[in-house]
Order: sequence, then C-alpha cells, then structure tokens
Amino acid sequence: MSQSTTHSSITINELRKSYSKPKHGEQAYAVDGISFEVPKGQFVTLLGPSGCGKTTTLRCIAGLEQPDEGQIIMAGQTVFDGANKTQIRPEDRPIAMVPQSYGIWPHMTVLDNAAFPLRHGRHRKGQQNIKQRTLDMLDQVGLAPYADRWSTQLSGGQQQRLALARALLSEPEVLLLDEPLSNLDAKLRAKLRLELRAFQEQFGVTSVYVTHDQAEALALSDLVVVMNQGRIEQIDRPERLYQQPKSAFVADFIGSANLIPVHQTSTVSDGLVAQTDIGTFLCAGEGQATGASGQGGNVCIRPENVEVSATTVSRHNGAQHNEMQGRVIGAEFLGDRLELVIDVEGTKLTASTPAVLAVRPGDDVSIRVSPVNARYLAS
Ligand SMILES: Nc1ncnc2c1ncn2[C@@H]1O[C@H](COP(=O)(O)OP(=O)(O)OP(=O)(O)O)[C@@H](O)[C@H]1O
Ligand SMILES: [Mg+2]
Repeated sequence: MSQSTTHSSITINELRKSYSKPKHGEQAYAVDGISFEVPKGQFVTLLGPSGCGKTTTLRCIAGLEQPDEGQIIMAGQTVFDGANKTQIRPEDRPIAMVPQSYGIWPHMTVLDNAAFPLRHGRHRKGQQNIKQRTLDMLDQVGLAPYADRWSTQLSGGQQQRLALARALLSEPEVLLLDEPLSNLDAKLRAKLRLELRAFQEQFGVTSVYVTHDQAEALALSDLVVVMNQGRIEQIDRPERLYQQPKSAFVADFIGSANLIPVHQTSTVSDGLVAQTDIGTFLCAGEGQATGASGQGGNVCIRPENVEVSATTVSRHNGAQHNEMQGRVIGAEFLGDRLELVIDVEGTKLTASTPAVLAVRPGDDVSIRVSPVNARYLAS
C-alpha cells in the first residue's frame, strides 16, 4: 500500500466500487481495486473505453459515490476509508468539479453563475470583493464582456469556460473534470484543450481529467491512467504510453498498432526473438522486457515504424529477423503520408510511409522493422 506524501495531492489505495449486490457469490465491480497517486500541481487523466469506470472513480474522489473498499487521501486528509467507514461529504472536500454538462444554471447571469461558489461554497464566510474577483476571473477566461448576459446566451465553448472559471474561483486543491469538452465540435475541442492546459498551468491546480479520447489525453496530461474493465492497465507519461505500452490493450487503445500473434519467444543477448506466422522479430527497444523463453503474446509495431521499399527482386521470406516481403492491398493518400495495407502471408500490416513512396495496390514490397521499434508484449 502506498502512503500519501507531501508531493501528492491525492492518493487512492485499492479502491473498489460496485453498484449491484453480489449474485451467486460473484461481485461485478465498476471500479475493481485501483491504486494511483495524483502528484501536486499535475494534470492526470483517466483514459479508457466506455464503461471502464472513469466517471465512477471521479465521483468517488468527489464524494458523490460511496466506495465499498479502499482509501482516498486528499491533501493529507483521509476523505474515504472503507476500513473505518470514513466518508467526508463532497462539500467538505477541497475539490471543484466540472461535470460533463458544465452544470451551469440557466436562470442566472454569467456573473452570478461564476460567483456562486464564493457566495455559497465551502469558504463563503469572510469572502470579500466577490464581484470584483469574479469579474477578474471572467476576464481571464475571456468572458468579462458577457458578465451580465443570461448564461443560456453563451455558446458551448463559452459555457465550458464559464464552468472552468466557476470551478477555479473556489480555489480548489483539486479540479475534477469529466469529459468537459465532449459536447463541442472537433475544432473547438482542440482549441479549448490548449486553453484548459494553459489555465491549469497558470493556476497550478492539481487536476484529474476524464476522457475516452486518447488524443485529448496525450495532448493534455502529465500522467495518464489507462483503465480497462474497472482496473488499471498502465500509468505513464503520454510519450511512454505510446512508445512503451505494457499490454496489447494499451498499444491498441493509444494510437494504432500492428499486433502480430507470437508462437514462441527466446531471450538473446540484445533483446528477445519472437516467432510469428510471418517471420521472426528481434525486439530490442528501450524498456523491452526480456526473460525466460515462453509462448503467446504479440509483437507490436506502430504503422510509422514499418519501413517499406518497392522491390523488383523477390527474396526468400524469413531469411533474416525483422525483414519480410508483402503485397500492397490498399493505399490511402493522406496529404503528407501514404497509409498502406500490406498483405504478408495472409497477415495484414498497416504502414504509414512518406507520400513520395511510389507504390500502388498490387505492388510487391519489402518490409523492414528496426529491432528498437518492434516491441514484444506478453499480455
Ligand atoms: N448509477 C449506476 N448504477 C448502476 N451501474 C452503474 C451506475 N453508474 C455506472 N454504472 C456501471 O458501472 C460501470 C462503469 O461506469 P462509468 O460511468 O464509471 O464508466 P465510464 O468509464 O465513465 O464510461 P463512459 O466513457 O461511457 O462515460 C459501467 O458498467 C456502468 O454501466
Ligand atoms: Mg463517464
């Protein structure tokens, strides 16, 4: 069990939550024994497919759900402990939450919406200059000219900024955001996610963000917690998640990946050799787990790491590790890149190559994958 440290704003230990009573002795957990830390001042994202338990985790942190087991420690204070039934009320936790629907009240002006936590929140006593402080914050998010409008007269993006301004005004220790950009169009999402990150850095507020959009998670986060069926698959920095996924699930969920089933592995001095239907791969990337010989698993190769060249002579397959012959069966021009689907002895590989490569469907090609870009994943 990990202990809360002064560097960590939230510590979650072995958290479990189910919504249903056990049936036939079996308990289905929406959140199934997860542990992670949110370092102070950092932006941490819970990422995973629909139904994997992201919102449930966030609501447990907020105190809106009562977990079954585990501990939640926030800024040094235990706000939930399953062992002694501690459950601090949401309004007594040092948090502000931006729900998916923004939670903006239609019957109030922009200013009144934003000022709400100062007037009615945890620290309402002794608040001074509420109007001025609220106007200053609205100014920071570009909404000062709209202060006296009804909040229903704002666009989706403006409502999102209002929800953020209101959350920040309560000066939370932790900001909780549940898919706050999901109702917006793609362009506005991309713009607002940059703004969101800039605000978060400016205010230095520890943030837990929920999304099922991997691009959003990679762009925004210091740390990403990848969830699958109530459990944690991997916790890592965005670039490491992409470059060093620990499982086929993570490799497939983050970006796109060729996953080639492995029959047998053996350890060699400079990495691991994996036998597949389409040949053998030497896997020697950074952080590549090596160990005893075994069976099963996948070789993971990112499309941009499949090196393709046009061939005129046919070579024998499997002559060398990481080299093979194939035939192009699909080619899609994407402006700067060419996305190829290549058939290698019945296995389809996707390759993302420079657009200048002159190949067409039906062409025979040679494929090479550098050992540092071939990654063996046991699970
Ligand atoms: N109030 C509830 N009552 C019963 N089951 C629930 C309730 N809320 C969530 N669940 C179930 O718990 C599991 C996790 O749900 P949760 O809302 O945490 O998923 P999520 O990762 O946020 O998904 P999404 O990306 O679709 O929002 C799902 O199987 C869901 O059906
Ligand atoms: Mg959700």
